Amino acid sequence: MKVLAIETSCDETAAAVVEDGRSVLSSVVSSQTDLHATFGGVVPEVASRAHLELLPAIVDEAMARAKAGPDDLDAVAATIGPGLVGSLLVGTSAAKAYAWSWGLPFVGVNHMEGHLHAAFLEDPELCLPTVVLLVSGGHTMLICMQKGRDDRIEYRLLGQTIDDAAGEAFDKVARFLGLGYPGGPAIESAAAGGAPDAIAFPRALAGRGYDFSFSGLKTSVVRYVRANPGVNLADVAASFQEAVVDVLVEKVRRAAAATGAKAICTGGGVAANTCLRERVKLVCESDGLVAFIPSRAMCTDNAAMIGATAWYRLRADGPTPLGAPVSPNLRLPLVLS
Ligand code: KG4
Ligand code: ZN
Repeated sequence: MKVLAIETSCDETAAAVVEDGRSVLSSVVSSQTDLHATFGGVVPEVASRAHLELLPAIVDEAMARAKAGPDDLDAVAATIGPGLVGSLLVGTSAAKAYAWSWGLPFVGVNHMEGHLHAAFLEDPELCLPTVVLLVSGGHTMLICMQKGRDDRIEYRLLGQTIDDAAGEAFDKVARFLGLGYPGGPAIESAAAGGAPDAIAFPRALAGRGYDFSFSGLKTSVVRYVRANPGVNLADVAASFQEAVVDVLVEKVRRAAAATGAKAICTGGGVAANTCLRERVKLVCESDGLVAFIPSRAMCTDNAAMIGATAWYRLRADGPTPLGAPVSPNLRLPLVLS
């Protein structure tokens, strides 16, 4: 089954053709980063206008690279939420129009479920139950992915951030330090020249439950830099990154032990962070767990993960009606623990 998938929930215009939810025939991602960099963050109206201009060419490119025509496809999918409403509308309206005109089913996909399924594209044998650390610009969640009835995949929420998302903390601290946008990669490269133990920033909620809190850490960085104007910014970036990674890794490790998970999986843009990737690998090695760490391109927003999820959802629930609205605050379908 071949699915054309479209992702436009934020500032990446992406299209992909995915076969049987596992094999990526093409994946094209056009980042609008440069367009938003001068504003220091994503400007929703600018993002949706750019999606509108870029999307037809991106879809054509994905179809051409997959050597696919409309007759080769079995469905057209798009992210319907969560995300920026205008951006979601562009991708979803386009996908519905392609589906309607080609006589194919439409599948509306939850962006966060897409991040959870990204690992399947590179590790088709992903063993469940696995604990997933989902860390993006808008979300920070610890989820246990497990097999339920009729082989359905269930998501059990173990914990989430009570204030800022991890990616948001990277972006805000980078902006404060004048490192630019997007903040994650900027902090990561600044941190390369600094000492992670130079400044003892707080590790909020460490050792307690599975929820996260990053807003106090951000305030701590601001206070420290204001009180120490001559401080080496590389040390600040490295110490901040270390504080975030320490908390993420400590919680995912404890969650894996408590749930009897066989693997730890990472997803979302922050999972592109080298320090986090290396620390998760080390924990898995020492605890006898499998580490599923998707490539950086599969951690950040892309349409292949939407195609993988659409394949699963189409078989589990059938198509989405063309009248279904976009849902900027869409939540993951969770099972209660
Ligand atoms: O998943 P994503 O591409 O978009 C959302 O759904 O939010 O995640 C974007 C977030 C941004 O906050 C960005 O700063 C962060 O992921 N990020 C990183 C890195 N690359 C992207 N954070 C830390 N280190 C990185 N290398
Ligand atoms: Zn995302």
